[in-house]
Amino acid sequence: MWLYAALRFERMSGAHEPLILAQGLRKSFGDFEAVRGVDLSVRAGEVLGFLGPNGAGKSTTMRMITGCLTPTAGTVTLCGMPIDQDPIGAKRTFGYLPEGAPAYPDMRVEDFLAFTARVRGLTGAELRQRVNAAIERLHLEPYRRQSIDTLSKGYKRRTGLAQAILHSPRILILDEPTDGLDPNQKHEVRQLIRDLGRDCAIVLSTHILEEVEAVCTRTVIISEGRTVFDGTPSELDARAPASVRHNRLDHVFRSITSPDTRAPAELRAGSARPPRPAPKCPTR
Ligand SMILES: Nc1ncnc2c1ncn2[C@@H]1O[C@H](COP(=O)(O)OP(=O)(O)O)[C@@H](O)[C@H]1O
Ligand SMILES: [Mg+2]
Repeated sequence: MWLYAALRFERMSGAHEPLILAQGLRKSFGDFEAVRGVDLSVRAGEVLGFLGPNGAGKSTTMRMITGCLTPTAGTVTLCGMPIDQDPIGAKRTFGYLPEGAPAYPDMRVEDFLAFTARVRGLTGAELRQRVNAAIERLHLEPYRRQSIDTLSKGYKRRTGLAQAILHSPRILILDEPTDGLDPNQKHEVRQLIRDLGRDCAIVLSTHILEEVEAVCTRTVIISEGRTVFDGTPSELDARAPASVRHNRLDHVFRSITSPDTRAPAELRAGSARPPRPAPKCPTR
């Protein structure tokens, strides 16, 4: 009976529908086509590692998913809301750490987070509670009254992560969240992402392959704006020949993205999953 009720609730609430659905995304800058038809579909509980060499189009894709950049073609639906038709509703659903974790350098950490919380519509005691919780979760307490321009790169990135999670979004889009962190900080942030990934749909871009093994449930690799792999980290690992004993993911990554070694496009196309149907799911 309980099981039946739980399954029925999940079906009614759309718990298994993708929270992030991007279909056929393309972006041209003048004559240059930076993104050439990328599909992403991410459900609650999935941490999608979005990989590719520098310049592959990861940040451009993430900027389109978050509505910061209008696609030349394609659609983005977040928690069932098409971002072009309901930009405010769709933008409420996610937290976003943009490339380089931009912030106002002369603001203090707690003031920046309070400012972000106000932009998110939080006020009064709830605002203070959410800011304090984010500061605690990112271990920023000793730095809360320090201005952002005086923080080390790692603590700037933590401040960026704190602003991304403080409204408890269902979706997180994190552009190289561990860039610039030392090994201890990387470990903490990966643990945080794993925790958040239990309930949220997360896309994180990285070019660190060990990050994929450490936190991701799925991997999409793009190269020159096209998807060249979509599967689990173990499916990626399985593509390396048995003779490769070490750095197996590095080996596969290079074999499918390096201009010298990759397979022709028609062979690689079969590795991309087809897009899934549009979701309907509640927001939080
Ligand atoms: N605003 C822009 N104008 C022109 N070219 C751009 C712009 N933004 C990105 N690009 C180009 O698009 C390509 C993809 O960039 P990007 O998405 O930042 O790659 P990645 O994040 O994978 O390193 C690069 O060649 C980059 O130079
Ligand atoms: Mg980038």
